[in-house]
Amino acid sequence: LRTAAVIPAAGRGVRLGPGVPKALRTLGGVPILVHAVRAMARARAVQVIVVVAPPDGTAEVRALLDAHGMPESTDIKVVAGGEARQESVRLGLAALPDDVDVVLVHDAARPLVPVDTVEAVAEAVRAGAPAVVPALPLADTVKTVDPDTGLVTGTPRRALLRAVQTPQGFDRATLVKAHDTVTHDVTDDASMVEQLGVPVQVVPGHEEAFKVTRPLDLVLAEAVLARRRA
Ligand code: C5P
Repeated sequence: LRTAAVIPAAGRGVRLGPGVPKALRTLGGVPILVHAVRAMARARAVQVIVVVAPPDGTAEVRALLDAHGMPESTDIKVVAGGEARQESVRLGLAALPDDVDVVLVHDAARPLVPVDTVEAVAEAVRAGAPAVVPALPLADTVKTVDPDTGLVTGTPRRALLRAVQTPQGFDRATLVKAHDTVTHDVTDDASMVEQLGVPVQVVPGHEEAFKVTRPLDLVLAEAVLARRRA
């Protein structure tokens, strides 16, 4: 049985500012999506990759991947995504071959995730955890705020909080069941599995697995890439 990576890349990336969809912006001259696909393909654990492209951009994404050359050993499909990330992931799951039993879901917007983080997540699922997330402690204190009054409503103890990254790894059947059951908006896949009452295991995340969301993140990503190439 094989392990697959589903890479949602159908977001417009509005927080990054105007321009082309986020996954198609470049870092070191290479599209963010290509970095993300390579990061997953480099992991020995990953044999199948499903890229979820903007609905009107599947041909463009396919051409982009072919132009940048992908490893022969990895089976790469491109499918159309949806309006919300959750829908994009569901469409990616629907395209998985039958012989896949472990699925990693990885944001295209995390192009610099180290291969060791990918392997650690996949290994924890193979070792029996139905759901695994990479996570880091927080630098900032986090508060809950009432958006209407602008008043602080609480301060969770920082030591108990973790910032969660991707790839998030799952037993395939568990993730498919979560996507079939949970219909309201969520911001990650593990939270859907949590709602089924399934335990979610945490493994160490990595600073370089940060999500490219705002303009400053592009500056940081270019610097990380330049350091790696030096
Ligand atoms: O919006 P957010 O930063 O949480 O998006 C995380 C990932 O989900 C990105 O890689 C983005 O391309 C993807 N996404 C998607 N389909 C959407 C919205 C976001 O594949 N409709």
